[in-house]
Amino acid sequence: MPKSLLPPKVLSELKRQLNHELSAAQGYLAMSVWCAAQNQKGFARFFAKQAGEEREHAGKMINHLVDRGVAAKLEAQPAPRQDFASLLEVALHAQAMEQANTQGINAVFEAALAAKDYPAQVLMHWFINEQVEEEAWAAELVDRVKGASCAGSVSDLDRHVEKLLAGDGEKEG
Ligand SMILES: [Fe+2]
Ligand SMILES: [Fe+2]
Repeated sequence: MPKSLLPPKVLSELKRQLNHELSAAQGYLAMSVWCAAQNQKGFARFFAKQAGEEREHAGKMINHLVDRGVAAKLEAQPAPRQDFASLLEVALHAQAMEQANTQGINAVFEAALAAKDYPAQVLMHWFINEQVEEEAWAAELVDRVKGASCAGSVSDLDRHVEKLLAGDGEKEG
């Protein structure tokens, strides 16, 4: 493994953020479990897929660090929120998680800018774009759940949620 060439602040921000991505993965998995227990199978699959994507995000950062000589330390994760009173609470929680994640991504980018760390800046461009998409589906999710006013429209939404909120991977593929 090469000697680390990362500016210290970029390194600490990337380590913080990759652990944050892992906690987002746990958060989405918990939301998936809640939805599955409510027989909202479409939502359960949707959030399970988001959990996988968040792990992939952590993986991108881990790979970047390994390529630059750092074996990032994984931290213990706090238990994710798993109690929700309604599907709307789940949707709002997802939106709040994505908004917080955008702040974290921006903080990494700002550290990379300040340190003139060009490779980390380019890495973060991908994440900045990704967060635009993540916040877009989260806002649409909140709107659609708010608009589903009866049990019938909720189950209709459950049936189509994966297609309606198709993430970046599906749009590209
Ligand atoms: Fe992420
Ligand atoms: Fe996300």
